Amino acid sequence: MRTSAAITCLAGLSTLAAAATSSLWVDTPPTFVRPYVIGHYANAEATRVGAQIYRFYVTGPSSGGLFTLLGTNSYSSGALGVLPHIHERHHENFFCYKGRFQLWTEKTDVGVNDGRLMTAGDFGTAPINTTHTFQILDPDTEMIGVIVPGGFEDLFFAISDGNVTYPNLTPYPPQTFSDAAGAGSSSSEITALEQFDVYAQLDYTPRRDFVNGTAPANATWHDGPNTIPSVSGTPYFVASNYGPKYINGAYGIWQIVQPFVTAVTGEHDYTEGSITISAQPANATVPTWNLTNHTAFQILEGALSLTMGQETVTLASGDVAFIPGQTEFQYWSEGAFTKFHYVSAGSAGIEKALMAHAGNWSYPAFPTYLA
Ligand SMILES: *[C@@H]1O[C@H](CO)[C@@H](O)[C@H](O)[C@H]1NC(C)=O
Ligand SMILES: *[C@@H]1O[C@H](CO)[C@@H](O)[C@H](O)[C@H]1NC(C)=O
Ligand SMILES: *[C@@H]1O[C@H](CO)[C@@H](O)[C@H](O)[C@H]1NC(C)=O
Ligand SMILES: *[C@@H]1O[C@H](CO)[C@@H](O)[C@H](O)[C@H]1NC(C)=O
Ligand SMILES: *[C@@H]1O[C@H](CO)[C@@H](O)[C@H](O)[C@H]1NC(C)=O
Ligand SMILES: *[C@@H]1O[C@H](CO)[C@@H](O)[C@H](O)[C@H]1NC(C)=O
Ligand SMILES: *[C@@H]1O[C@H](CO)[C@@H](O)[C@H](O)[C@H]1NC(C)=O
Ligand SMILES: *[C@@H]1O[C@H](CO)[C@@H](O)[C@H](O)[C@H]1NC(C)=O
Repeated sequence: MRTSAAITCLAGLSTLAAAATSSLWVDTPPTFVRPYVIGHYANAEATRVGAQIYRFYVTGPSSGGLFTLLGTNSYSSGALGVLPHIHERHHENFFCYKGRFQLWTEKTDVGVNDGRLMTAGDFGTAPINTTHTFQILDPDTEMIGVIVPGGFEDLFFAISDGNVTYPNLTPYPPQTFSDAAGAGSSSSEITALEQFDVYAQLDYTPRRDFVNGTAPANATWHDGPNTIPSVSGTPYFVASNYGPKYINGAYGIWQIVQPFVTAVTGEHDYTEGSITISAQPANATVPTWNLTNHTAFQILEGALSLTMGQETVTLASGDVAFIPGQTEFQYWSEGAFTKFHYVSAGSAGIEKALMAHAGNWSYPAFPTYLA
């Protein structure tokens, strides 16, 4: 199934050129469940809310209703990106792809009222009934969101200032909008959104007493290990490369799994995390996977080749693959160090298969010797 390096390189050179001959590359998420790959900043399903551009790489329809994977791009803002709110039926997850934003979560029944300064690779989760809000702080910031179950994108189209199409796929338009405030920025607007599972929490004031990127000041943030709770329903944060790590060397390569959401904290609806993978040696066999449930990969660093069906594609940073459950696939790194973000529906994603043959590991880098 693995084709020659020359062919895979060609396929990866240009999303646009490849799209003409590929059945996997799409520029709009399909309206039904099928294998596909979609390029970073694809225009389809791109919509503007204030100064923020939202793009939906995996939608309710494309995931059979199981999860939405979206990206939000913007310049910095002096105001909250959305008024504080909760969801009663959706679990929302925030990942910093690049730039900086602040993220706040409050859930009084578990004693959490926290803020974090999010830089590239940081993760935070807002389970059901968590008050949350964010503020974008740097030019060229990109937040990646995972919202479970799928279909939450309908909200953004409902509050949109207009769908957008940028022929050159720029992350966001370099212009100042007169309506630059973020989603649900007026209290009358946000209180009208309960049909979309958005419940405004207008009495919540985000704390501003950050020290070293965290409020309260004494929380562990980029200065020690972050653990994942052993129960569900608690908001938490995992700083980039400070969470738990597991290493698998079973296939002639190293794969380091860093979970963000476990089967428990994902309420058995989904799991999420990152996988770092070493170069594919010519003499090692690429394993074939066939997972029970739907999975999405989004490339964070390096390049990943993926075979689904008869077709091999190469994904670069920000590109997304959607792999339906019970679809055979293979993946391997095209470079020395490739890292990708995974989301799996259910509780037995790719990370579970890898962790079944993995050991605890303390570093984001591989050992110095071959697997
Ligand atoms: C979320 O809050 C609503 C309203 O208070 C409540 O009815 C519901 O049971 C809560 N859900 C969970 C999972 O706690
Ligand atoms: C924006 O795009 C979405 C998704 O394709 C669509 O449902 C919606 O009708 C569009 N909105 C406008 C104003 O065209
Ligand atoms: C903030 O970070 C500095 C540098 O690591 C450290 O000296 C200081 O104690 C930290 N402050 C708090 C409140 O953690
Ligand atoms: C952390 O700081 C909070 C106040 O922000 C304080 O109530 C709490 O006791 C401190 N915890 C520790 C372990 O120092
Ligand atoms: C692959 O080649 C390397 C040397 O380049 C060797 O150390 C390794 O054992 C080989 N692996 C297999 C599976 O043959
Ligand atoms: C994948 O595994 C399922 C069982 O979980 C099986 O029914 C299906 O045929 C397999 N698919 C392929 C393509 O091998
Ligand atoms: C996939 O996961 C969803 C939860 O997200 C679950 O309801 C469904 O039963 C799972 N499907 C399979 C085939 O295991
Ligand atoms: C890995 O670490 C965890 C937590 O420290 C521990 O419970 C577990 O036994 C360790 N597993 C292995 C295989 O060392």
